[in-house]
Amino acid sequence: MVTTLRTPRLTLRRWREDDVAPMAAINADPEVMRWVGDGSVHDRARTEAGIAAWEREWEERGVGPFAVEDRGSGRLAGMAGLSVPAFLPEILPAVEIGWRFGRPYWGRGLATEAARAVLDFALRDRGLARVVGVHAVGNAASAAIMRKLGMRPERETTHPAYGLPLCVHVIETRCS
Ligand SMILES: CC(C)(COP(=O)(O)OP(=O)(O)OC[C@H]1O[C@@H](n2cnc3c(N)ncnc32)[C@H](O)[C@@H]1OP(=O)(O)O)[C@@H](O)C(=O)NCCC(=O)NCCS
Repeated sequence: MVTTLRTPRLTLRRWREDDVAPMAAINADPEVMRWVGDGSVHDRARTEAGIAAWEREWEERGVGPFAVEDRGSGRLAGMAGLSVPAFLPEILPAVEIGWRFGRPYWGRGLATEAARAVLDFALRDRGLARVVGVHAVGNAASAAIMRKLGMRPERETTHPAYGLPLCVHVIETRCS
């Protein structure tokens, strides 16, 4: 079963113990977390629990969020992958594509490169018929990535827990 993807500049793979520290550094940056959840930063313990939850998704569903490694340096650049958007019951059942990169990796098209590989994995390798993307209204970079992936805006809604406006994008495979 495929669980590692390679793009020209990135390796997407399952999570390891030594990813906790670099992912915790990414999650501690308020600029990175501005549009994630309620916008608060995550400490090391929360990051460790989050990575464990991402790995459980892989074990239980055969899909999950990948650790994204910069092939040039071998360093962890961030996360990109698939999860079930349980925080938004009105769109379930669904599989959501998402991403989060450390600031040194922004502005070079890396998130788009990773997201294209994840979407191809979802639709071709795993045979999913539909993938959603959910971003906070105002998160222009994520909106741009969803457009570049060929996703269409489907609806605006409100985060049930945080009361923040959200935009839901969708892509579906078409039958011939
Ligand atoms: C979202 C994120 C991964 C984007 O990283 P990135 O390196 O800028 O991504 P890319 O370079 O692949 O593409 C971003 C696109 O958005 C555009 N963009 C970036 N910042 C923007 C802004 N503030 N306003 C408008 N467009 C913007 C870029 O121009 C680019 O589009 P283009 O290729 O048409 O020029 C990065 O900002 C991040 O990790 N943010 C924090 C976590 C997060 O918000 N995750 C998503 C939750 S839904």
